[in-house]
Amino acid sequence: MAKAPAPFPQRILPDVRASKIPASIGIIMDGNGRWARRFGWERVRGHTAGIDSVRDTARAAAELGIKELTLYAFSVENWKRPRREVTYLMELLRKFAIDERAEIEKNGIVFRTLGRIDELPEKTKSALRESERLSADNDGMVLRLALNYGGRTEIADAAKQLARDAVAGRIDAESIDEAALAERLYDPSMRDVDLVVRTASEMRVSNFLLWQISYAEIVVTDVLWPDFRREHLYAAVREFASRERRFGGLVKG
Ligand code: FPP
Repeated sequence: MAKAPAPFPQRILPDVRASKIPASIGIIMDGNGRWARRFGWERVRGHTAGIDSVRDTARAAAELGIKELTLYAFSVENWKRPRREVTYLMELLRKFAIDERAEIEKNGIVFRTLGRIDELPEKTKSALRESERLSADNDGMVLRLALNYGGRTEIADAAKQLARDAVAGRIDAESIDEAALAERLYDPSMRDVDLVVRTASEMRVSNFLLWQISYAEIVVTDVLWPDFRREHLYAAVREFASRERRFGGLVKG
């Protein structure tokens, strides 16, 4: 009988065992402004350049067999940036949601957002919602954009929902546990993140997925986001594969 073809990871990263490929990766995309300033350009050019990094990284992650890729695109704190930059980012996100639809469809990607999307400008919100709707029945990698997102806000919003449910008698306060809170997060289907990658050297978590990254491995690279490409993702996955994950237990053997 003919041998089944090797799964993707073996072909792309032959030195990494398939079982060591992270199922879920979160990326804190940082350094767009610094990248642009290096050329004496205005900061927003770094955001535009960052789109190519998103495309290459998402494609590579899907080929590697990553199940979920979550990108931190706009935090609840980012509204403090100059109005012009915020407006630029909102337009870029709107355009991204529309321009990528064909590519998302071609690759069977499920496109999702995470955060307080209702507070985004109407045009951005509707473009994102439509892309989510169009890709909802696909069965490939979940590409999730964290937008108007804050880890503390997400947990506080889930706590508020728990309180509402308790007052309405839908849940008994004594039975509230981790699972009950997790069911009320923005995307209850989201799995725990195995690997967090942060670009541009900063050793911070910056309010990204606080609940879901509890046991994540963190890899920080000095590459600025607009320079980030698939080989940097591969390097992070290799680093992840070399780590001993213990989840609070002891190393086996
Ligand atoms: C950080 O760079 C990056 C962001 C504010 C996130 C936005 C990312 C993009 C627009 C890339 C394209 C992504 C999508 C999904 C369309 P920074 O401005 O904080 O850089 P700095 O720390 O060098 O100032």
